[in-house]
Amino acid sequence: MNLVVVSNRVSRGKANEPMTGGLAAALLPVVEKSGAIWVGSSGRVRDGAHKEAFAEIEALGAGALAMLDLPAAHYGGYYEGFANSALWPALHSRTDLIRASQEDYLSYREVNAFMARALLRFQKPDSVFWIQDYHFLALGAELRDLGVTDPIGFFLHTPWPARAVIGGVPHHRELVEAMLAYDLIGFQTDDDCENFLSYVRSDLGLAARDGVVDSRHGSLRVGVFPIGIDPEKFAQQAAKAVLHPDVSRLRRSLNGEKLAIGVDRLDYSKGLLNRVNAFDRMWTLQPGLARTASLLQIATPSRGAIEAYGNLQNELAKLVSDVNGRHGEADWTPIRYLNKGFSQTVLAGLYRTAQVGVVTPLHDGMNLVAKEYVAAQNPADPGVLVLSKFAGAANELDTALLVNPHDIDGMARTIATALSMPLTERRLRWEAMMKKLRSGTIQRWFADFVDALQETHADKGVGERLIAEPPAPWPRRPADLSARYH
Ligand code: F6P
Repeated sequence: MNLVVVSNRVSRGKANEPMTGGLAAALLPVVEKSGAIWVGSSGRVRDGAHKEAFAEIEALGAGALAMLDLPAAHYGGYYEGFANSALWPALHSRTDLIRASQEDYLSYREVNAFMARALLRFQKPDSVFWIQDYHFLALGAELRDLGVTDPIGFFLHTPWPARAVIGGVPHHRELVEAMLAYDLIGFQTDDDCENFLSYVRSDLGLAARDGVVDSRHGSLRVGVFPIGIDPEKFAQQAAKAVLHPDVSRLRRSLNGEKLAIGVDRLDYSKGLLNRVNAFDRMWTLQPGLARTASLLQIATPSRGAIEAYGNLQNELAKLVSDVNGRHGEADWTPIRYLNKGFSQTVLAGLYRTAQVGVVTPLHDGMNLVAKEYVAAQNPADPGVLVLSKFAGAANELDTALLVNPHDIDGMARTIATALSMPLTERRLRWEAMMKKLRSGTIQRWFADFVDALQETHADKGVGERLIAEPPAPWPRRPADLSARYH
């Protein structure tokens, strides 16, 4: 099998690379071992890239990494525009933040079409394509339009919200119809999968039962594949990482004080303002916790050119400074707030140092920080995970202290409970979570999806169908789009 994995962001596998994205960090170890070719954006743009795709190709484990320069004229409209100002807010149920112009949508479709053409270069007789995430909803349809009959799967790392919310995305119908070109679509949770099926039934009027959707193009399978991590490897990394100079310095600076840690991209879906408000509330309600427990909040800047992200960064900085100003002392800072990225090694050591992990997004596909925090703990003296019930991870990590991130008082009380939880209870909760992590590893996720994709494709004989009968056309890209390229 020639596996071609596609995602917007890729990782070069350098040990000290700062990790800002869950997807790239999660895929790296499995893609490396699988021998797949991993294709994504180089982060650079190029004029005229649409005429001839430029890829920098390097070895990656048993396979290769191909980084493409994306078309300069469309990158902004694709990445900051449609993907992250229309799809991202909608997928996280923030329809109030949707901003999308027709140009952005055209650029999004252009980049999907560009990627499809570029992928042909990596196609071999027994290829299997696995497309990742919301940047490439229409990539499968573009590949089919180019005559690709190989198995093509898609996995969504974010949530898929209720149908009315998806209805807030301009061109939602065209996009979901394009998604029907995939053989298999994977979601993180049952709710995401159900929401997708409900859209397909109600808005597209298609029959969908037992995870199979029938469309005029044939059948499509949908399923739930919760993404995992490699808990044993992460645990070893964390045990070693406590000796890392950055981690040792942090330990020394604590002087016996307890530490709660939050690590997030600076994104409105992560519930950062509510979290800081909850700590504020906790120190107000329980002044005895001042000086004895602080928060280390790492908020890695992300998508800074988008207004909503810039606004959040300003608001958060102001809130943190206000809380520190009110609760702090000359020799005590309640919130250590850092706006930069860290390598996975350092993060593993920081997680192990903290007695409480706070992962309180308003809505999140999975949230691998939650899983990494658990795996990083010392089995003899594990910390406590405070986890939002709206993170996909809460389905598995149900012995974490689950919170509603909109209930500030409730979160304040739960964080205080976590800080004082006795060892016996901490161990019981942690062992139950580790058991779940061990049974749902990233290796298993990867293998399960690829196996299901191959089976689905074999069952429906898509290759035969496409060759035997002229296929009904996929929902077209807007008319003027192809004209610019052909
Ligand atoms: O699905 C979420 C995701 O694609 C993950 O990779 C990560 O959480 C984030 O979005 C990365 O975003 P970006 O590539 O824009 O930094």
